[in-house]
Amino acid sequence: MKQVVARVLSNKKLSSGCYVMWLEVPEVALMVKPGQFVMVLCRGEGQTSPLLRRPLSVHRIDGDRLALLYAAVGQGTGWLAGRKTGGQVDVLGPLGNGFTIDAGAKKLLLVGGGAMGIAPMIAFADEAVDKGLEVTVLQGVRNADLLYPQDELPSSVTFEAATEDGSVGRKEFVTGAIAELSPDHDRIYACGPIPMYQAIAGNTLILSSKPTQVCLEQMMACGWGVCYGCTIKTQNGLAKVCQDGPVFDINDVVWDSVVDPRIGRV
Ligand code: FES
Repeated sequence: MKQVVARVLSNKKLSSGCYVMWLEVPEVALMVKPGQFVMVLCRGEGQTSPLLRRPLSVHRIDGDRLALLYAAVGQGTGWLAGRKTGGQVDVLGPLGNGFTIDAGAKKLLLVGGGAMGIAPMIAFADEAVDKGLEVTVLQGVRNADLLYPQDELPSSVTFEAATEDGSVGRKEFVTGAIAELSPDHDRIYACGPIPMYQAIAGNTLILSSKPTQVCLEQMMACGWGVCYGCTIKTQNGLAKVCQDGPVFDINDVVWDSVVDPRIGRV
């Protein structure tokens, strides 16, 4: 883990409210793997607010550069959206464990729940394609405006969309699409809201023979195992999402004890 000042290479709006920021940051980019994250200081020199760094998944990796996907929804990410090419951003990372691909994996289903759930899946799709694996990326969103641009995906990836309003792709919740697509895949990887994981974990048809890894979002104060603020219950005892995760086997997590950071206990 390094704390470094990264140089902003670009920072552009991708879809409604979503931005991609490319950073030149060799100290982190050359070590990071998909599923890991960085803690970003979302304020300038001399400013004191927001106090805490913001955890962001690594969205893409290219040599000494990496990209972050974020939604400009508050003071911190609003500040981030205002950074221009050539500007500087203070970054701590890489943090967490990342996704793993076992030797028997051939056909992967990568699921992004919501506009931000897709964030770590694109770096992971790049890696899986490089390894010669078949990859389907499934994104579930409320409507077409929130979809990730397909022309940003590796060309060999199959893209599936599920929208709640039916404006593009399958008209259903993402969990329904996972159930339909999972029989044709041998591994599932997902990133999204806690209720999505709880629905997957409760669906024995999906999980019966599919090893499934999930990337958890939790409120994080430190991001590197010091504050215990991100602790969850697992089958093996308490675990810190920032250090033992954020990627877990779905069967290891005690789901009814996990707090959804967006809506409180579920
Ligand atoms: Fe502090 Fe995980 S965020 S221990």
